[in-house]
Amino acid sequence: MSLNNDAAFWSAAQKHVTRYGPSFETVIIERAEGSHVYDADGRAILDFTSGQMSAVLGHTHPDIVATVDRQMKSVAHLFSGMLSRPVVDLATRLAALAPGLERVQLLTTGAESNEAAIRMAKLVTGGHEVVAFAQSWHGMTGAAASATYSAGRRGYGPATAGSFVIPAPNSYRPRFTHADGSNDWQAELDDAFDLIDRQSTGGLAAFIAEPILSSGGILELPLGYLAALKRKCEERGMLLILDEAQTGVGRTGHMFAFQREGVTPDILTLSKTLGAGLPLAAVMTTEEIEQKAFEKGFLFYTTHVSDPLPAAVGVTVLDVVERDGLVEQAVKQGRRLRDGLLSLQQRFECVGDVRGRGLLLGLEVVADRQTKSPGFELGARVMEEAMNRGLSMNIVKLPGMGGVFRIAPPLTVSDDEIDRGLSIMSDAIEAASAMR
Ligand SMILES: Cc1ncc(COP(=O)(O)O)c(C=O)c1O
Repeated sequence: MSLNNDAAFWSAAQKHVTRYGPSFETVIIERAEGSHVYDADGRAILDFTSGQMSAVLGHTHPDIVATVDRQMKSVAHLFSGMLSRPVVDLATRLAALAPGLERVQLLTTGAESNEAAIRMAKLVTGGHEVVAFAQSWHGMTGAAASATYSAGRRGYGPATAGSFVIPAPNSYRPRFTHADGSNDWQAELDDAFDLIDRQSTGGLAAFIAEPILSSGGILELPLGYLAALKRKCEERGMLLILDEAQTGVGRTGHMFAFQREGVTPDILTLSKTLGAGLPLAAVMTTEEIEQKAFEKGFLFYTTHVSDPLPAAVGVTVLDVVERDGLVEQAVKQGRRLRDGLLSLQQRFECVGDVRGRGLLLGLEVVADRQTKSPGFELGARVMEEAMNRGLSMNIVKLPGMGGVFRIAPPLTVSDDEIDRGLSIMSDAIEAASAMR
């Protein structure tokens, strides 16, 4: 009998663990290492979501283990008004990586980093209105949740006053097209901001955006879009906040995704990947914005702000990314993975689209390639078949889209692991399609 069927474990889980999302996996995870998690039977499961899109160095990386051990023995947590060397080191390292964004605040989670960014933007601009994409995910707390439109809006009462939304550009399903059928994102953006201007009561503070909308189904902002968006913000005295929770720290083949465009945001938030699986986030901004915020009495004082333990982990993450050439690795392994996904698209009718960049890729499952009608059920079956064969992938289901697999293995993933993942995906699609 499988040790995953531990009746006492599942009965206690059913009784005591709050169901905070749609469902739990049916295996018990006992440990994790590199690109794999291991269940109660010792079965290795390839983790193609890097935990919750965070473990860029893979699981239990020896350098992280050593840093946690060392830092835990010196100092882990402090009074929030005290500074320590790991905090100043990490701030200095991050500032050097993102010229123009010299000021850094270290926090804990992605939602929290966006709270701080939005709070700072409101204080500095004097406005309160925040615009986001209709397919966004910025977190589960107040202002971040008000700017999250891909899920979870119903049932919690009013969002913050002045929460506005525009559609994210979608090249696979464009809303505005050029004569040749390609996505006319500029027309879409102009149209959207026309509506924003009509809704605004004159208090626009910020636009918050992901460079690749991940929970929104791996929607990549096309080249040129970020510059156009920044112009829209500048014209209105709004700040551009980029949320690089998932795209930061090498994942897309640049240290930060915005660097592909040479467009620096006013505020950059980092989380997930910065701690490579441990809770660490950063809010980065310009000297000028930080100065204005300070003069106006900026307060974002939390229990774990500037804690030395996660900061030391962040320094090690950057060390390993640099030492092991993981940004370049994301480009190289991303190409291998993408080529494999494209060949799946050639073989299987249900693979409608392959998109994303570096090691943050999306594969959209459709019921019909011509009409692009959503293939939610098929996608869910593929996910289950993949898990049965030892591959963990995550599918997002959004209105107006097919099921989209988000594929983001650790940046340390090997050739063999990519090939095995692709082979499992192929078998899973074949098995799931045969059930129709
Ligand atoms: C782009 C983005 N921003 C923010 C968050 C929220 O981060 P956290 O769950 O750490 O609060 C997420 C989480 O999935 C995310 O994907």
